[in-house]
Amino acid sequence: MKKLAIAIDGPAGAGKSSVSKLLAKALGYTYLDTGAMYRAVTYEVMKKGLTDKGEIAHMAEGLNMEVAPGEESMHVLIDGEDITACLRTPEVSARVSEIAAIGGVRTAMVTLQRKIACKGGIILDGRDIGTVVLPDADLKIFLTASVKKRAERRFEEFRSKYPDIRLDEVEKEIETRDWKDSHREVSPLRPAEDAVLVDNSDITLEETAQLLMGMAEKKENGNGK
Ligand code: CDP
Ligand code: CDP
Ligand code: CDP
Repeated sequence: MKKLAIAIDGPAGAGKSSVSKLLAKALGYTYLDTGAMYRAVTYEVMKKGLTDKGEIAHMAEGLNMEVAPGEESMHVLIDGEDITACLRTPEVSARVSEIAAIGGVRTAMVTLQRKIACKGGIILDGRDIGTVVLPDADLKIFLTASVKKRAERRFEEFRSKYPDIRLDEVEKEIETRDWKDSHREVSPLRPAEDAVLVDNSDITLEETAQLLMGMAEKKENGNGK
């Protein structure tokens, strides 16, 4: 059976990371959350107080970043220190699109992503996986859902941690980030020409995973081109 490289792209809150985790578990593959890598760079930028784009790119190029699989989410280590808990905060979310638009930052992260992906039996999720990181991926999915549904899903996730959070604020945050990610010059968010478009606004996470699982199994068995 062929060990695949699977690319899952799409906007914020579409279900990419949840679906990728389920698929990786079912297929016995490694899951790489590339969004967490851009969040880690953003966290370091904020910690170090960097403002100059050239300096930020230079810092990203020299960053000692390691990733490790985890139960809940992928872990990111910088100089051996686990910073995973610092990555999905409103502060990082508010700045990540700006940092991820810097060419030098992307080159550094894409190099690392390809190094990790070269083994096969991998699932990468992000914004530019099918278009830039793995243009030859065996299966490319562009996962999306209505902005309303995506905001509701994120709101449910954040409510316990941030009791004051408002649905309209969450919706605005993801709309702003999607606009920035789709309109940047380098590697904008868009479906690859050969990606399968999956809108999961009206199906559950499990149903979405089942659908993608079917596509992956066909590819593993050498058909479904
Ligand atoms: O999980 P969520 O959709 O909120 O975001 P994420 O996947 O953690 O990605 C955070 C941000 O990183 C995105 O809004 C993009 O600006 C950037 N990103 C990117 O530019 N390219 C990728 N391959 C992955 C993420
Ligand atoms: O990674 P991305 O930002 O695309 O989304 P996610 O963090 O995987 O998913 C956001 C939330 O939506 C999670 O709590 C999922 O369980 C939920 N979800 C859902 O309720 N129904 C779906 N069809 C897909 C995801
Ligand atoms: O030689 P093999 O294809 O087994 O390994 P590789 O060239 O290191 O790439 C592993 C997988 O990553 C390939 O199957 C491609 O799907 C993907 N890849 C890609 O799409 N684009 C690249 N520039 C590098 C790798």
